[in-house]
Amino acid sequence: MTCLEFTSSEGNCPCTQLPFIAEYGKVQLSLLGFFSGIIAALLGHFGTSLRLDWMQHWKGKKRILVAGGVGFLGSHLCERLLNIGHEVLCVDNFFTGSKENTAHLLNRADFDLIRHDVTFPLSVEVDEIYNLACPASPIHYQHDPVRTIKTNIYGAINLLDLAKRLRIKIFQASTSEVYGDPDVHPQKEDYWGHVNPLGVRACYDEGKR
Ligand SMILES: NC(=O)c1ccc[n+]([C@@H]2O[C@H](COP(=O)([O-])OP(=O)(O)OC[C@H]3O[C@@H](n4cnc5c(N)ncnc54)[C@H](O)[C@@H]3O)[C@@H](O)[C@H]2O)c1
Repeated sequence: MTCLEFTSSEGNCPCTQLPFIAEYGKVQLSLLGFFSGIIAALLGHFGTSLRLDWMQHWKGKKRILVAGGVGFLGSHLCERLLNIGHEVLCVDNFFTGSKENTAHLLNRADFDLIRHDVTFPLSVEVDEIYNLACPASPIHYQHDPVRTIKTNIYGAINLLDLAKRLRIKIFQASTSEVYGDPDVHPQKEDYWGHVNPLGVRACYDEGKR
C-alpha cells in the first residue's frame, strides 16, 4: 500500500511507522495507568491524614486540655477535638469517669491521658482549656459534698490561673442548676434564681455559681 498524501521528503511513508507509534502509545498509556494507580492508592491510604495536615496547617492545630475528659461529655469532646485535627491532653481523677470511655483513643499519638485531681494546680503547656471536671449526677455529687464544692471552686481557680498564665481561652462547664428551682423559664443571665444555699444540691449549685 502506498500513501500519496503523506510521503515524506526521504521517500518513506509515515504510515509505515504507525504500528511502532501505536505500540509506543500503549506502553506510555500503561505506564501512565500504573503510576496513576500508585498515586490513587497512596492518596486513598494517606488521604485522611493529608486532609488533616492541610486543615491543621490552615486552621491551626492546637493542644487542648480537657479536664474531666473521661467523663460522659468529656470523652465525646476529646474524640471530637481529635477528629478535627487537634491534640488532646485529657486530665481526670477517674472519680465518676471511666478509662473505658477513652480506651479507643489511648493508642493515638495525639492523645494523652493524665490522672490528676483539678483541686491541685497543674502546670502544662496548652493552647486552650475545657473544664468539665465535676461529678454531674446528684448521686455522685452528693456522695461527698465538700469534695464536690472543692472540685468546682479550686478546680475552676486552678484552671483559670493556668489560662491566665498562658493567656489562653478557657471554657467552664456550668449548669442551669445555678438558678436553683427557678420560677422563670427560660432563665436569662440577669435572672438571680430561686436558690437554696443549704439544700442537698447546694454543693453542686454553689460551686458552679
Ligand atoms: N451531663 C449533663 O446533663 C450536664 C448538664 C449540665 C452541666 N453539666 C456539666 O458538664 C460537666 C461534665 O458532665 P458529665 O455529664 O460529663 O459528668 P461526668 O461525671 O460523666 O464527668 C465528669 C468527669 O470529671 C471527673 N472529675 C470529677 N472530679 C474531678 C476532679 N476533682 N479532678 C479531675 N477530674 C474530676 C470525673 O472523674 C469525670 O470523668 C460537669 O461540669 C457538669 O456539671 C453536665
